[in-house]
Amino acid sequence: MDIQLRPVRRHDVPQLAVLLGQLGYPTTEESARERLDLWAGDPAGWLIGADHDGELVGVAALHVLPLLQSTGKMGRLVALVVDESHRSRGVGQLLVAAAEDQARAAGCIKMEVTSRRHRTRTHEFYRLLGYEDISPSSARFIKLFPADRPPRG
Ligand SMILES: CC(C)(COP(=O)(O)OP(=O)(O)OC[C@H]1O[C@@H](n2cnc3c(N)ncnc32)[C@H](O)[C@@H]1OP(=O)(O)O)[C@@H](O)C(=O)NCCC(=O)NCCS
Repeated sequence: MDIQLRPVRRHDVPQLAVLLGQLGYPTTEESARERLDLWAGDPAGWLIGADHDGELVGVAALHVLPLLQSTGKMGRLVALVVDESHRSRGVGQLLVAAAEDQARAAGCIKMEVTSRRHRTRTHEFYRLLGYEDISPSSARFIKLFPADRPPRG
């Protein structure tokens, strides 16, 4: 299968919405367009697309942030998904490798990805690529902001 890696573009919005749905986050095309525009305006973010015959069949979203406890930056794989009809053919590994290359080029010393506990096969995929599950030693806390409250100040 001939796969080209390239940036995700505006004409990919319908397929991006499909991919996000397959990832478990049903998304309208309008929301997918809005998010794509947010990523496009962020110099620390990259949306790496996998293209097969002009169609977006996978995406890796990489964000890079500076560390303070170490010298260097960390790459965070914010999302990774391959179209259901193109899985198990190496596309996921290609996308992760491209995200890692981009992260290294941007000054990262490590990568991080979080993944829901129910995705057990996906966790094997990450282990295969050299990622270690550190969750037993590191808790993860999340606080959701209510949508209707404006920021202070
Ligand atoms: C995880 C995912 C991106 C992998 O993409 P892919 O293109 O299928 O993966 P590759 O073909 O590069 O590598 C597959 C190999 O990794 C291993 N592997 C382990 N877990 C796997 C999984 N969940 N999916 C695919 N391969 C997996 C296998 O060895 C597999 O080879 P095989 O298919 O011959 O058994 C894809 O399955 C996917 O989109 N899953 C749903 C969304 C998801 O879980 N995303 C990650 C969120 S944190």
